Amino acid sequence: MTQQHPRIFLSPPHMGGAEQRYVTEAFASNYIAPLGPMVDAFEAEFAAYTGIPHCVALTSGTAAIHLALRGFGVGAGDTVIASSLTFIGSITPILFQNATPILIDANAATWNMDLGLLEETLAKLNKQNKLPKAVLPTDLYGQCCDMNALRSICDNYGVKLVVDAAESVGATYQNKHAGYFADAAAFSFNGNKIITTSGGGMLASHDKKIIDEARFLSQQARDAAPHYEHTTYGYNYRMSNIVAAIGRGQLEVLDAHMQRRRDIFAMYNRELGPLAGINFMPEAPTGQGNRWLSVILVDSKTFGADRETIRLALEAHNIESRPMWKPMHMQPVFKDMAMVGGGVSDALFRDGLCLPSGSAMSDADVMRVCDALRGCAAK
Ligand SMILES: Cc1ncc(COP(=O)(O)O)c(C=O)c1O
Repeated sequence: MTQQHPRIFLSPPHMGGAEQRYVTEAFASNYIAPLGPMVDAFEAEFAAYTGIPHCVALTSGTAAIHLALRGFGVGAGDTVIASSLTFIGSITPILFQNATPILIDANAATWNMDLGLLEETLAKLNKQNKLPKAVLPTDLYGQCCDMNALRSICDNYGVKLVVDAAESVGATYQNKHAGYFADAAAFSFNGNKIITTSGGGMLASHDKKIIDEARFLSQQARDAAPHYEHTTYGYNYRMSNIVAAIGRGQLEVLDAHMQRRRDIFAMYNRELGPLAGINFMPEAPTGQGNRWLSVILVDSKTFGADRETIRLALEAHNIESRPMWKPMHMQPVFKDMAMVGGGVSDALFRDGLCLPSGSAMSDADVMRVCDALRGCAAK
């Protein structure tokens, strides 16, 4: 019976209107290529929006992280400290560089990297003369890490700070855009993100050199010559002009879409917050998250159902939801990876459920999710 309702997706693309006009313009100019005026304009507009002056548009957020690590000289024999509670695209670029990740648990208050554990780990590695090349924390679900604290920890040890800001486009920390205080920040425009280009990413930095180098490497490291000349090797990571056209349109609606996601979170909080056993991802006082996804924590004993029972019940109502990221140290492929702590992210994965959060959701859609979820509570 409930299958008659249209499906509510977790975080589908939401076009604002101008995207198609920009794509038509790109077609008319015949720049159907991984270079062109739309790419240049998208980079300039993204730099203006974020306040991070140098930006290079790429095929993905994963590519952006990869180029940052390579640019900062991460290579074989090096280590990089990263968040365990994240998406795999945060970690694989470390492996692409033949370096070794050290994973750190989440903090229960922010769900981002536990900075106490980070500091302990750096102190220990320093004593062994084995400092990592970089620290790579994730801004989880669009909430910025504590950048002041991270900055001073990394500066203290002379370690580069690369922020995985794939999920935090539009979010702020002390009134500056996500990634502003990092040595480099990687953003994603994947199909499920707050703004999307169907697939794509951006690397941003105050350091022009690192962005120029990333731009060079993203185009197969082609030296200046009439023929193809290479003194190093690179990648085919450059964003296409058509894709950048979509990005320009999406950037125009980013603020409105972020506000809608925050409003959806506020509705969930109002409707479900009073239920015993339901808690929400807390917002750090240091900034404004974009609430890319609204995430609940389910105390199964108090609520009367666990997160998987709720997920299946929502599915029966044709509503998509998803468990939180399964921590990287729990992934079979990474079972031997070095891990510091683990209890917090294990518990968040066990109890955390991402609710539909797309900015095109109507209030009635949100209420449909709330009603279905209320139906799972112990009577
Ligand atoms: C935390 C995190 N890191 C990295 C990525 C990788 O971005 P992309 O899919 O654009 O490669 C994503 C999302 O997809 C992500 O959520």
